[in-house]
Amino acid sequence: MKTLNTQVAIVGAGPAGLLLGQLLARRGIDNVIVERASGDYVLGRIRAGILEQGFVELVREAGAASRLDSEGEVHEGFNISVNGKQERIDIARCTGGSTVVCYGQVEITRDLMEARSAAGFETFYESAVTEIRSVESNKPSVMFQHEGEDYELNCDYVAGCDGFHGIARQTIPAEKRTEHERTYPFGWLGLLSETEPVSHEIVYCKSERGFALASKRSSTRSRYYLQVPLAEKVEDWSDDRFWSELKKRLPLACAERLQMGPSLEKSIAPLRSFVCEPMQYGNLFLVGDAAHIVPPTGAKGLNLAASDVATLYRLLVRRYSKDDAKCLAHYSEIALRRVWHGERFSWWMTNMLHQFGDVDVQGMNGSTLSRFMDSELSYYLGSEAGHRVMAEQYVGLPYEDIDCALGAA
Ligand code: APR
Ligand code: PHB
Repeated sequence: MKTLNTQVAIVGAGPAGLLLGQLLARRGIDNVIVERASGDYVLGRIRAGILEQGFVELVREAGAASRLDSEGEVHEGFNISVNGKQERIDIARCTGGSTVVCYGQVEITRDLMEARSAAGFETFYESAVTEIRSVESNKPSVMFQHEGEDYELNCDYVAGCDGFHGIARQTIPAEKRTEHERTYPFGWLGLLSETEPVSHEIVYCKSERGFALASKRSSTRSRYYLQVPLAEKVEDWSDDRFWSELKKRLPLACAERLQMGPSLEKSIAPLRSFVCEPMQYGNLFLVGDAAHIVPPTGAKGLNLAASDVATLYRLLVRRYSKDDAKCLAHYSEIALRRVWHGERFSWWMTNMLHQFGDVDVQGMNGSTLSRFMDSELSYYLGSEAGHRVMAEQYVGLPYEDIDCALGAA
């Protein structure tokens, strides 16, 4: 057994773990990341690409934003099309100038990996954490294997950044955690293609045939999604079938200029709302997908991971710079306030934009729910106040000031 020591052990080298590690490193807080997969595998996961301003500022603070700042595309609005009638939500005008940045999660992950490597901080890849021990003591430890060798990583704190299927959440005793969950009776079939995007800005499409989304990764790389029944298999969706269905759901102007081409990636993901409460137990802190999942309709998954990171990072800086260990007891309550705002917005956008068919949804026939949601959507799209509500949530609510939050605690 090899024994290592650090201040913060981070489980998982996804965006949450890498961003937290880089921020802590720049403030002189020692940390080690242990990641189950290889770096290439982590980079191979195709994910979303809409970043809130708070996230962009964090990546700048982490010293890893040079490519993001030069290649990221600032978006001042997004579009919602209902049965072909398109409405633009001018997020910059509605929020006094806030915007979002379109930049792939893979690219953020790559930039953070490179920054960490350049800083010489330890990351163990292809090393699954098998146990997180003594989190109720002031000397927790993380057990993992690396290149056939057993390791024990002793630390002050453990950041569980290991995603929905990780070990960290399971380390909290079942009787100590409450899990809130909503699953949806459909999934998203996503396709990535090296084709010119149909629109500079994102277009969310509600049609009688189901939801579709037109997004992008660059001026030459497009990302599209189709709502499909949960039972669908990706192998039943040829590229031709995907493009043909997408054209039927896009507004006419987009459909007419749709550039089709071979898929670089195609996959189906289920939609889920999930929150684990609390997001901490002893000296273990859950961050990002380890604690919560949102349906991608609000583009909040990556952004909620970032706001968790911001909260834990600032509390850890306070803990070490002011010797204030007690402040960490407030991580979960602070993080959950913003998590639930993101969860509600994502649940709301999902209900408004998808077709539910004749399934039973919370005791209501899905087609009846769709009628209620049609009315809600048309009200919000038809009013200045409605646009402002959607815009404020889309750009992301402000991060809480930690000192104020602690003062109020
Ligand atoms: N030991 C070590 N690493 C682990 C373990 C384990 N036992 N279990 C999981 N991991 C790793 C996974 O291999 C993955 O690389 O933890 C990482 C978790 O990364 P993400 O799942 O990307 O979660 P997070 O960093 O919170 O980012 C959330 O990623 O999945 C998207 O939609 C999600 O955009 C959101 C963002
Ligand atoms: C994406 O670009 O993958 C994307 C954009 C907006 C969403 C979800 C996904 O709401």
